[in-house]
Amino acid sequence: MSIPREFIDLLLSRIDLVDLINAQIPLRKKSGSNYFACCPFHQEKSASFSVSQPKQFYYCFSCGAHGNAIDFMIQHDHLNFPEAVEALARQVGMEVPSSGAPSSKNESLSELYDLTARAAHDYYEQMRQSERAIHYLKQRGISGTIAQQFMLGYAPSGWSHLLDTFGKTDPDKKKLLNCGLIIPKNEGGYYDRFRERVMFPIHDYRGRIIGFGGRVLDQGEPKYLNSPETPLFQKGHELYGLHQALKQHRQLARVIIVEGYMDVIALFQHGITYAVATLGTATSSHHLQRLFRYTAEIVFCFDGDNAGRTAAWRALLVTLPAMHDQLQIRFLFLPDGEDPDTLIRKEGRALFEKRMTSALSLSAFFFQTLSQQCDMSTVEGRARLAALALTHLKQLPAEIFQGMMLEELGKRARVDVQTLKQQLHPLNKPLTTEPAAVPVTASTPLPPPIRLALALLIQHPMLAQSIETTLPHNKLPGYDFLLALIDIIKSSPNPVTTGALIEHWRGQKEEPLLKKLAHAEHNIPETGIKNEFLGVIRQLIALSIDAEINHLLSKSAEDKLSPQEKRDLSVWISKKKALVY
Ligand code: UTP
Ligand code: MN
Repeated sequence: MSIPREFIDLLLSRIDLVDLINAQIPLRKKSGSNYFACCPFHQEKSASFSVSQPKQFYYCFSCGAHGNAIDFMIQHDHLNFPEAVEALARQVGMEVPSSGAPSSKNESLSELYDLTARAAHDYYEQMRQSERAIHYLKQRGISGTIAQQFMLGYAPSGWSHLLDTFGKTDPDKKKLLNCGLIIPKNEGGYYDRFRERVMFPIHDYRGRIIGFGGRVLDQGEPKYLNSPETPLFQKGHELYGLHQALKQHRQLARVIIVEGYMDVIALFQHGITYAVATLGTATSSHHLQRLFRYTAEIVFCFDGDNAGRTAAWRALLVTLPAMHDQLQIRFLFLPDGEDPDTLIRKEGRALFEKRMTSALSLSAFFFQTLSQQCDMSTVEGRARLAALALTHLKQLPAEIFQGMMLEELGKRARVDVQTLKQQLHPLNKPLTTEPAAVPVTASTPLPPPIRLALALLIQHPMLAQSIETTLPHNKLPGYDFLLALIDIIKSSPNPVTTGALIEHWRGQKEEPLLKKLAHAEHNIPETGIKNEFLGVIRQLIALSIDAEINHLLSKSAEDKLSPQEKRDLSVWISKKKALVY
C-alpha cells in the first residue's frame, strides 16, 4: 500500500489541524499562536494539550503526545495510516489515488522507471533474435530459464537502436538521457550507450529496473559497461541479484556477496539463490544496512590473492560499526584463478556451500590479519596488536560481541581484559568510515549550531526560503539531514508546515528526532527568529569553508596540491573573506 508523497503533501496543506481537533475537543484558550485544551490522550484537569496553527502540530506538555493531522487521526480515532489519510481526504473532498500505484518522489521518476522497463523488454526481445548473443549465453552455460529470470538481453550493434525505438520526440530523448541510456554527441544529437553487448538489467530490491550492465561478447574494453549515476541509480547503494533472491525467499537465511554479474547468475542457476553483487564497487554501509533488513548471516566472497585480502579487510572495517550480536559474518577466499562462476560449475552446490560454512569468521579473519602485522613473540609486538585491535574494536557497538572480542584480544596479547576495557573511551570514538550513511536519530550527539538550525527550521520550515546560497558540503553530524530538509521545503509547491515536513519521515529512524526538535525550547523571540537562523547558517557555512581550507592547507604543507586544488584553495579563501559576520 503506498500513497503518493505529493498527495499527502497536498492533503496536509488543505487540512487545518486547529479545525480538525476543535471539532472533537473544544479548543478554548489561546496564547500566542497556540490553542489549548485538556489532553485527549490522558486524564488531566488543567489544559496542557497545545495545538499550533502555524506549525500544524500538536503537543501535550504533560504526557508528550504529539504529531500532525495524520497522527491525530491515528491516535485519537484509532485508525491505521491509510485509513487516517482516507478519512482526512474525505473531509476536504479529495480522492486518494488508487492504491498499489508506486509512490515516487515525483511524477517523472515513475516515467523513468517505465522507460527502463521498456528498454529491458526490448533488449530481451533483441536477444531472442540474435544468434550471436544466444550462442554467447549458451557457451557460458546459462540456461534459458535463468536468462529469463534475470531478464538478460542484448543491445544490438549500430548507434541508434534504442534512440530510434524510444526517442522519437525531444521529451523522449530527454528521458533516455536521464536514464543514462543515450549519450550526447559533441556536434549535437545523441547515440546509444550500449551497443553489441549482453545486457544485465539491474533491479532494485522492489524489482524496478534502475540501470544496466552490458558485457562485450568477445574481447573489448571495457569488459563491462555500466549505467552512469542517474536519478534512479546510485552506485554504492544497489545490490545486483537482491530482487531475485527476495523473490525466491521470504526470509534470507544467508546472503553471499560476490563480485560480478555472472557470479550471481551462475550461483543462482546451481541452486545458491541468495547471492548478490556490489557491481564493481566496494561494499558500503548502505549495502550492509539494506542486507541486514533481510538476513543475519553474510558471507563475503573474495579472490584468494593479495588484492582479495585487502578488499576483504576493507569490507570488515565497514562491517564493524554495523555489527550486532545477532549477526554472523564470514569471509570466504577462493582458490587461485577461480571465481564463484567457474567454481560452482566445477564442484556444484554442495561443495560450494561447504566452503561457505567453513569460511573464516569475522573474529578469526580479524585476528589473523592483525597478528600478521605484529611479532607475537615479543611484548612490544603484542602491545602493538592490542593497540591496533583496539582502534578497530572501538567501532563495535557496546554489546556482547565487543566484550568477546576484547576477551579474545586479551588472551592473544596476554593483557588483562579490564585494562583493555579502560582503553575503550566512548568519547574518543573515531568517526566511522562513512559517517553520512548513519541516519541521525534522537540520540545522535549534534553540534549546537546544527541542533539550533534544525530546530528553527523544523518549527518554521519557511525559513528555508530565506537561504539564498547553496550550502557547501561538510561532515558535521546532522548536516546532510539539514540539507535534506532544506531541499524538501524549497522544492515543495505548497508552503510547508512543521506537521507536513515531519510527515516525510514517518516510520524512519529520523522521525523521533524531528518530533523532539519540533517542540524544543529555544527562547528566541518570534521577531528575532529569522536573523538567528541566518546567523547560524552563516556559521555553518564558515565551518564548512574552514574545513575545506584546513584540508587543502595541510595537503599543501606536504606539497601535494594539484593545480586544480590550488585554484580551489584560493576560491575558498576568497569565499571566506566574502562572508559577512
Ligand atoms: P571481473 O573482471 O572479475 O569479471 O569483474 P567477471 O564478473 O568474472 O565477468 P566474466 O565472468 O568475465 O563475464 C567483476 C565485476 O566488476 C565489474 C562488473 O560488475 C563485474 O561483474 N566490472 C568489471 C565493471 O564494472 N567493468 C569492467 O570493465 C569490469
Ligand atoms: Mn567471471
